[in-house]
Amino acid sequence: MYNSKITGLGYYVPENVVTNDDLKKFMETSDEWIQERTGIKERRWIDPKTEDTTAVMGSKAAKIAIERASLTKDDIDFIIFATLSPDMYFPGGGVQVQDLLDMPTIGALDVRNQCSGFIYAMSVADQFIKTGMYKNILVIGAENHSGGLEKSTRGRGVTVIFGDGAGAAVLSRTEEKGKGILSSHLHSEGKHAKELVLEGPSTQRWVPEIMENNDPDDTSYYPYMNGQFVFKHAITRFSEAIVEGLQANNLQKEDIDMLIPHQANLRIAQFIQKKFQLSDDQVYNNIMKYGNTTAASVIIALTEAWEKGKIKDNDLVVLAAFGSGFTWGSVIIRW
Ligand code: ACO
Repeated sequence: MYNSKITGLGYYVPENVVTNDDLKKFMETSDEWIQERTGIKERRWIDPKTEDTTAVMGSKAAKIAIERASLTKDDIDFIIFATLSPDMYFPGGGVQVQDLLDMPTIGALDVRNQCSGFIYAMSVADQFIKTGMYKNILVIGAENHSGGLEKSTRGRGVTVIFGDGAGAAVLSRTEEKGKGILSSHLHSEGKHAKELVLEGPSTQRWVPEIMENNDPDDTSYYPYMNGQFVFKHAITRFSEAIVEGLQANNLQKEDIDMLIPHQANLRIAQFIQKKFQLSDDQVYNNIMKYGNTTAASVIIALTEAWEKGKIKDNDLVVLAAFGSGFTWGSVIIRW
């Protein structure tokens, strides 16, 4: 049996910086409220005048990751694309990347698991490599939230949190024992689907019906989040996923060299840091700069941490996420 390891990492965020004060143009809010509740100072939102879309940002991040893996696009066997904000209802972003990067007619799969999307995508890629089916898989997490947020006071509880961006990893076959992805752990609890949801567009919420009703109170085309409910579940499930990953590999919390939590909210990450008694150097957060980029957040943070030299050979790196679905999970990596 083979193992898989990360051989290339890349990320891309749009140039357009939106500060908390900038949001005051659309809604009643304050820098103080946002920073105190979420830790976010600014986020990147696509400037609609640019070429950036979910798939375009994903392909830009992918290009960097492929280059850093010392591979070419022709060496990639499969694409996995995680997003909750695809450019089109169908097809998904994976096939768009295949086209944008002019890749051979390899398979492409979209993962629709919101904030846990990248964790799920890594796990799927790992299984394909472990079985020997593929050698090099491009795994992407990308989001264009700004295109679909409610930019008014009514939507402020959700809108201030989310940012746009993309990250990518190349996962490659390795025969080194005890290196690379040691295990992944995936969970869901669909009974809470409506606590963090975007109902439309879907087969239940067709646009013509909404247009005919022209109902200003119909918010089903904007994301809804029961913030405090999500918060409570997030801190429990995050912790469970990390413990499960450690136990599966006979490891202790003291063995963690770097934790990359999904950048949902700085307070959630700080709670987890305290619970696992990790120092500031053992947890990487960048939500202050980018907000919550859902499926892109873990891979953007992992790439930044690696670029800054915070991850060294043989380090134990733990990726963990929780989000809409609810879905949650972890990936345990020996670097
Ligand atoms: N600016 C100013 N005031 C605001 C804003 C805003 N942006 N948003 C809400 N408020 C107001 C509300 O209207 C409310 O006012 P009221 O008391 O007069 O009615 C007050 O602030 C408190 O609102 P709450 O929603 O109760 O605020 P809370 O303290 O719960 O903070 C938050 C909201 C930040 C969303 C918090 O619940 C949270 O962080 N939850 C976790 C959410 C999360 O992490 N989601 C992501 C995980 S999953 C994923 O990534 C998809």
